[in-house]
Amino acid sequence: MLVLGIETSCDETAAALVADGRTVLSNIIANQLDLHRKYGGVVPEIAARRHTELIGYVINEALDAGGKSLSDVQAVAVTAKQGLVGSLLVGVAAAKTLSYALRVPLVGVHHIEGHIFANLLSNPEIPLPHVCLTVSGGHTLLVYVRDHCRYEKLGGTVDDAAGEAFDKIAKFLGLGFPGGPAIDRLATKGNRKAFAFPRPLLKAKSFYFSFSGLKTAIINAFKHQLAGGEKLPFEDIAASFQEAVVEVLVAKTLRAARESGVSAISVTGGVSANRRLREVFTDTGDRESIKVYFPALSLCTDNAAMIAAAGHARLRRGYADDLSLDVIPNVPLEVQHAG
Ligand code: KG4
Ligand code: ZN
Repeated sequence: MLVLGIETSCDETAAALVADGRTVLSNIIANQLDLHRKYGGVVPEIAARRHTELIGYVINEALDAGGKSLSDVQAVAVTAKQGLVGSLLVGVAAAKTLSYALRVPLVGVHHIEGHIFANLLSNPEIPLPHVCLTVSGGHTLLVYVRDHCRYEKLGGTVDDAAGEAFDKIAKFLGLGFPGGPAIDRLATKGNRKAFAFPRPLLKAKSFYFSFSGLKTAIINAFKHQLAGGEKLPFEDIAASFQEAVVEVLVAKTLRAARESGVSAISVTGGVSANRRLREVFTDTGDRESIKVYFPALSLCTDNAAMIAAAGHARLRRGYADDLSLDVIPNVPLEVQHAG
């Protein structure tokens, strides 16, 4: 089945063609970063307006790059849950229009379920059940994946998402937006033991995370030096901050895997591109005979191939939607089947 995926939940306008839920024929992403950079974050109004300008172009590009035409499309999958309301509406309106005009099934996808399927697209062999950590700019969520499309929440963040912490520290250091890739690069030149930043909730029994205190601790530790015009040890701050985040994410996710009795972990979302996160997860997993899987770098951040793959899995399980499909900006992944 050829599925056209559409993703517009935040600031990426994306469309992709995926065959049978596993072969990516095209994966087009129009990035709006230049529009948002000067504000230091995504401006929802601007994002929604830009999606309306780009969506038609991006869908046509996905068809061209995949060597297909609209008449080949057999289903349309779209991110309908979790994201900026105005942004989601643009993708859902486009998907409904196509589904109606082409007379093909429509399926709404939860954005985090998309990220989970990004890793399955890259590594279809990930065994079930497994534990999945989604770490992105908007989410930090730990779930037990009992079966495809069946999730049980183990934990998540109580405040900032992991990627949000990267972005805020990068902004504080003047590294631009989004900050994750910049911190990742800078940290390779720094000493990760230079500063003993807090490891929030590391020892807590729960699988909840908290990154806002870490961010505040770092900002408070250096703001006077920054205000006084002193040059900060950027590389060491980046490396020590990254180490604190990585240590907490890895330790808790591995403990979740052990306690759930699974031997596989899937790590996905924008932050799963982080080099140090991949290294520590893989090494610690190896020591405990737990295999850790990551998506291809092109599928870590927001894209529509992951939405097409998730949509395909949902359609196969009978979760089709009709033209009454609405957007839900905030709904937990594990209760989405009720919607
Ligand atoms: O998954 P994504 O594209 O969007 C959301 O669903 O939020 O994730 C974007 C986030 C941003 O916070 C960005 O800074 C972070 O992923 N990110 C990284 C890296 N690449 C992207 N964080 C750390 N290291 C990276 N290499
Ligand atoms: Zn995302």
